[in-house]
Amino acid sequence: MSGEIPGAPFALRDGTLYCESAPLEAIARRFGTPAYVYSKHAIEQAYRRYASAVESRASLICYATKANSNLAVLNILACAGSGFDIVSGGELARVLAAGGDPRKTVFSGVGKSEAEVEQALRADILCFNLESAPELEMIQRVAARIGTRARISVRVNPDVDPQTHPYIATGLKGNKFGVAYADALPLYRRAAEMAHIDVVGIDCHIGSQITAISPYVDAADRVLDLVDALERDGIRLHHIDFGGGLGIRYRDETPPDPGALITAILARVDARGHGAKTIMFEPGRSIVGAAGVLLTRVSILKHGEEKNFAVVDAALNDLLRPALYGAWMDVQAVRPRTAAPIVVDIVGPVCESGDWIARGRLLALDAGDLLAVMDAGAYGMTMASNYNSRPRAAELMVDGADVYCVRPRETIEELFARESVLP
Ligand code: LLP
Repeated sequence: MSGEIPGAPFALRDGTLYCESAPLEAIARRFGTPAYVYSKHAIEQAYRRYASAVESRASLICYATKANSNLAVLNILACAGSGFDIVSGGELARVLAAGGDPRKTVFSGVGKSEAEVEQALRADILCFNLESAPELEMIQRVAARIGTRARISVRVNPDVDPQTHPYIATGLKGNKFGVAYADALPLYRRAAEMAHIDVVGIDCHIGSQITAISPYVDAADRVLDLVDALERDGIRLHHIDFGGGLGIRYRDETPPDPGALITAILARVDARGHGAKTIMFEPGRSIVGAAGVLLTRVSILKHGEEKNFAVVDAALNDLLRPALYGAWMDVQAVRPRTAAPIVVDIVGPVCESGDWIARGRLLALDAGDLLAVMDAGAYGMTMASNYNSRPRAAELMVDGADVYCVRPRETIEELFARESVLP
């Protein structure tokens, strides 16, 4: 691991923004824009905040791969001791390619295919986070066919309001996720009787970008009620997985520290006498979110009748969060100007009015200026597309003063290399 670098991973020094000890201006000159820039140190530090809060007991932090699945990111976390939460065979392949440990990998998701289940069984993953009764039957069938046993945990839907954006709330009755609370016990009983199933755990995940502890504690209480009921039935679990991690500060949110979340949950676990069980979390956003920026250059300044626009070279295909969730992302000038600021919308070149990155920001800008969209390390590149035939951005990992290209920008030819015209 790299040594301690004090302060934030992205900070102004001599009037220009740095990532660790590397100036973003030099990075943009060398690798072009748009580009995602990640701080290795920030990823490690964020992981350690979770890991150190649980290290005194049996525990596993399973980084949610979907937040940022670049092999370099996964490898840094694997080296730090992290496990992984995956939702597809593609993510499993990435975890393995990055040196992740399948025995520390849990497989979530409502629509696992038979091929994915077989792939995961052959890799001998830690467990499947089961989301429905038909999935249990399917996993039993696949395990029987290949002559093995599948470890399972039931993802229960605790019906708790996480007070977050409706698109990223997952633990309410009306959500597609998890097994209905009332159906969990009968499902466990059925699973416990199956020849090719080992019941090992329970899990829940109530949503993302949650900035209060109380929804997690409410969910934990509901999950622990089930653990008690299961034990009364003679079904003993090995682990309890409390799902995704905390939200981050994009604007003025005040998320608690992971240590505070974990202390609150462990107190509930211990009070119920389950302190010997392995405690798990699946944080994604809070591990990589603040560790990355999207670097983009202003192409054109345009003064419309009602608004000023800064058209930049990044667009919704690079960073979908603003368009999809109306998400507020901080935008900073890499070399802030002293000129009078103007109110400006920062928009991309894609042909959609929804193609904006930030609206109504006060910035002093000129064409050619570099901007950094802050806190873009999570759900940025993993949600990128090639809409408008735009090659996906480069990804760069900074370690001290060293900058590594961990995924070059796609070429235009790569975009249609596997397409063909009719003979
Ligand atoms: N575990 C499961 C089963 C999940 O579905 C998720 C996220 C996580 C863990 C990680 O949650 P986190 O620690 O990152 O909050 N694209 C959206 C976020 C979608 C989150 C989906 N599930 C966004 O950009 O805000």
